[in-house]
Amino acid sequence: MKRDLISLNDLSLETIQGYLELAARVESMPAEERRRLLAGRILAVLFYEPSTRTRLSFESAMFRLGGNVLGFSETGSTSVAKGESLADTIRTVEQYADIIVIRHPKEGTARLSAASCSIPVINAGDGTNQHPSQTLLDLYTIRKLFGRIQGLRIAFVGDLKYSRTVHSLLQALGKFGNATFRFVSPESLRMPSYLRDGLAGSGCTFTETVDLGSALAECDLVYMTRIQKERFPDILEYEKVKNAYCIDARLLRGVPERLRIMHPLPRVNEIAPDVDPTVHAAYFPQVGYGVTMRQAILLDLLGVKQ
Ligand code: NCD
Repeated sequence: MKRDLISLNDLSLETIQGYLELAARVESMPAEERRRLLAGRILAVLFYEPSTRTRLSFESAMFRLGGNVLGFSETGSTSVAKGESLADTIRTVEQYADIIVIRHPKEGTARLSAASCSIPVINAGDGTNQHPSQTLLDLYTIRKLFGRIQGLRIAFVGDLKYSRTVHSLLQALGKFGNATFRFVSPESLRMPSYLRDGLAGSGCTFTETVDLGSALAECDLVYMTRIQKERFPDILEYEKVKNAYCIDARLLRGVPERLRIMHPLPRVNEIAPDVDPTVHAAYFPQVGYGVTMRQAILLDLLGVKQ
């Protein structure tokens, strides 16, 4: 039976921990050894939405494992522009590749794609819903930064309504349990109720606030997000909140040394460049762990066990 990576909901805590262990093994493996693991295999990258890190890190991961990549990063030059259905595109690409990574603006498209073919499908973001490979690399980063995942005080800041990286990561952290969350957002961008309710029985607690200052002073980790302009049905609503939160070096003066800041990137104006040289900035190391974790995901789903 083929396996896919579609939603954090589908993964047990043991499976998530397995990915973290596999990523650690990949990281410590000599480059020459890694380059043999997926020789002759082909990854298809199908991106119906803009991407820099997710697409390029999957490609880099595949090349580092000795595999090859084909695909598209916009649909204008493909048969999608002629009206081809998603299912037909997937059935076609299945003939050309061993595994598919797909990003699409509509929720549920990754699962639909997985059901349309017999090769593994990885969800690289479906609308505002899920972004599971980002979550696995975020968890790997958290473990690198703190040596553990449980028992942390974590603030999610910014667009908690539309941010799929937040939605997936919160569900994953709920499986680990024993976390204290602070949801920092404008009133109109609060964490969806299904995700807040989903924490019941997890051993995690949360509070909601509009105040970033107290989160910086009292948390171990701030997970910053971009206000997702492209998701707003009404651009005037976006204009009201677009500058809601901005962390700069001045704001970080006096915060505890332990505070770390992550961000899935791209940033627009929510983290000023003068934060980059501080001890708090963890978002570029986070990018690097993306390549490590995506190698682990490709190896696992293609059944190449270490
Ligand atoms: C995020 C995404 O696409 O959901 N980026 C990413 O994959 N690293 C976040 C964003 O676009 O703001």
